[in-house]
Amino acid sequence: MPEATILVVDDEKNTREALSKILREDGYDVLTAADGYHAMDVITHEGADLILADLKMPGMDGIELLSRTRLKGLDVPFVMMTAYGTVESAVDAMKKGAEDYLTKPVNIEELEIQIKRILAHRKLLVEAKQLRDRLRDKYKFENIIGSSPQMQAVFKTVEQVAPSRATVLITGESGTGKELIASAIHQNGPRADNPYIKVSCGALSENLLESELFGHEKGSFTGALFTRQGRFEIADGGTIFLDEIGDITPSTQVKLLGFLQDKKFERVGGNKTFSVDVRLIAATNKDLDKVVAEGAFRQDLYYRLNVITIKMPPLREKMSDVPLLVDHFVAKYAKENNKDIRSVSPDALAALMSYRWPGNVRELENMIERAVVMCNERVIGRQYFPVITGTDGPEALGMPAIPGSSLEDIEKFAIQKTLEAVGGNRTRAAEILKISLRKIQYKLKEF
Ligand SMILES: Nc1ncnc2c1ncn2[C@@H]1O[C@H](COP(=O)(O)OP(=O)(O)OP(=O)(O)O)[C@@H](O)[C@H]1O
Ligand SMILES: [Mg+2]
Repeated sequence: MPEATILVVDDEKNTREALSKILREDGYDVLTAADGYHAMDVITHEGADLILADLKMPGMDGIELLSRTRLKGLDVPFVMMTAYGTVESAVDAMKKGAEDYLTKPVNIEELEIQIKRILAHRKLLVEAKQLRDRLRDKYKFENIIGSSPQMQAVFKTVEQVAPSRATVLITGESGTGKELIASAIHQNGPRADNPYIKVSCGALSENLLESELFGHEKGSFTGALFTRQGRFEIADGGTIFLDEIGDITPSTQVKLLGFLQDKKFERVGGNKTFSVDVRLIAATNKDLDKVVAEGAFRQDLYYRLNVITIKMPPLREKMSDVPLLVDHFVAKYAKENNKDIRSVSPDALAALMSYRWPGNVRELENMIERAVVMCNERVIGRQYFPVITGTDGPEALGMPAIPGSSLEDIEKFAIQKTLEAVGGNRTRAAEILKISLRKIQYKLKEF
């Protein structure tokens, strides 16, 4: 295998042939061109790892060939060959980006050393770049695990929205990773070096939240002894993450809507208008559609927030990620606790795979942390997950065992549970089960 392809460009046939012969003997692939135009053709169509070009050629000279190659965005290294006495133009070529030059007649040993050096240097640069790319890929979503199609779709959306300043709403059950995704959007965007400010809206009373977000002027309410900057001011140029947005009161909703409309706000108790450049990401584990329908959340604000929505899937809907998450958390907590624990046993993993994870990834993480702390072996056994009893699955609902039950029992169970869920409304149950109302009535009689 030749280690590199070298293109020799020279209008003198003898030089071309002599150099080609030597370089081929050294084990390189050699291409030749008699002028700059032909050389451009070879460079763009076949590619070369190094170009050895005569400086003086009729038509397009070596320097022009170099410039045109760079204009095409190609950074192949050039070595210029120049006749004795025209060293100035060779220096000029180096200023324009040639790696080096040789005077003619070419000293073969010098040529070989230069080529080796340049190619070795290139290889290092290429390897370093590959390493960086790999690292970037790996840490692009630092510590966010997910090879399931659902998570891959989430990552794709994050990649698409991160560069923009569009408002993003992240929804999903508790513990599904909403906060993790919010910070990934910030980290992967152009604001990454600017502030990322998180506010838990549910934790604060209305007054406190408003002054937290927008700041307040001294004396604006009892206890406001000093003027205070709000989080929006502090986040200028960066991102603000409003967690539990579904919990904010109507008054705060109005203020937030105002901000989203014109990026301006006033401090509580103040009349000076502040204008900031802040990207907003919001999260909620509530069904905002429902909260809006109930009248507890302004529809106009909902539309403003909902420019891009990311729905975090519950863990039970992406169970294929469980083994990866388990490995990730075992490694994380083994390191944190200085323990030499590598994995969980197959039956422990089977138990983890059978559980429904109402607390999602957070529950899994906590369970693994606890197991790592308790475990003194290298492999975490099934007994370290006592919470998973094996009856948390569908059987816990009284569902007939599958396999082990007749189709009739399973059908009966499905009809009963559906009816219960819809308060005995047979029409609705028939719709959900996709069977006719008559069939439900008939089955009920049968039971
Ligand atoms: N895909 C994932 N990969 C690795 N860790 C994850 C993943 N998803 C969630 N986690 C971890 O699970 C825990 C809960 O995640 P996070 O706080 O982002 O959830 P949340 O959706 O904001 O929950 P809540 O609604 O309760 O605030 C965190 O410790 C987080 O690091
Ligand atoms: Mg959260």
